Amino acid sequence: MGPQHHHHGHGHHRKQEEPRVFLRERRKRKSSGVVWALVILCTVLAIGVIVTGGTVFAVYLLYKPKMPYLLVSDARLESLAYDQSGTIRELRLALTILAENTNSKTDATFSRVNLGVGFRGAEVALLRAADFSVARRSSVPLRYQVYSAGRQLNGEGMESMYGALRAGVVPLDLFGKARTSWKVGIFASLRFWTRINCRFLFFYPGNGTAMPIDCRSRSP
Ligand SMILES: *[C@@H]1O[C@H](CO)[C@@H](O)[C@H](O)[C@H]1NC(C)=O
Repeated sequence: MGPQHHHHGHGHHRKQEEPRVFLRERRKRKSSGVVWALVILCTVLAIGVIVTGGTVFAVYLLYKPKMPYLLVSDARLESLAYDQSGTIRELRLALTILAENTNSKTDATFSRVNLGVGFRGAEVALLRAADFSVARRSSVPLRYQVYSAGRQLNGEGMESMYGALRAGVVPLDLFGKARTSWKVGIFASLRFWTRINCRFLFFYPGNGTAMPIDCRSRSP
């Protein structure tokens, strides 16, 4: 009764399996070289990534690079002569655009400044600027005296202009882009497109000022 009684209640009497022993000493020794090479490679890669990341972070903290941008500081619609045939006989617009560089340690350059003024999808004027640089922590004003004559509006544009003049609020869009570049120490030269897209609402006929908006360009 002794042993049988001892197992009573366990349900199954599991037979213990013999441990399997594989003898793969030779294969293991051959592959261990490859494994070690991979381990070393991965370690080197990981250290490289950490060192690179640390350097980039340190440079970032040191220089705190900021995107240069364009900012419209003043816009005034000085005159707008429009005739019933749908032609803008004359449009005069004074625009002051600041090229801002808020970096504390590096100058920035603006190039390929390419802006446009539009009314309801119709291009009224193009604005350009030669390449220029902006010293650290400063801005350069671009003053445009926009003049446009003879622009013919389509049917939709004519209707919009009619309604706008009657309401005394003329919408004009400023859009376009510029290329900015600036150096981060000796490490890198950063280049970005900066894009602007704003709609100004001018009190016209009226005093010609625009409703205040924050019109500045952004980099992706
Ligand atoms: C221009 O006219 C608008 C609307 O009449 C008014 O709100 C604004 O204060 C005026 N601005 C100036 C500088 O007179």
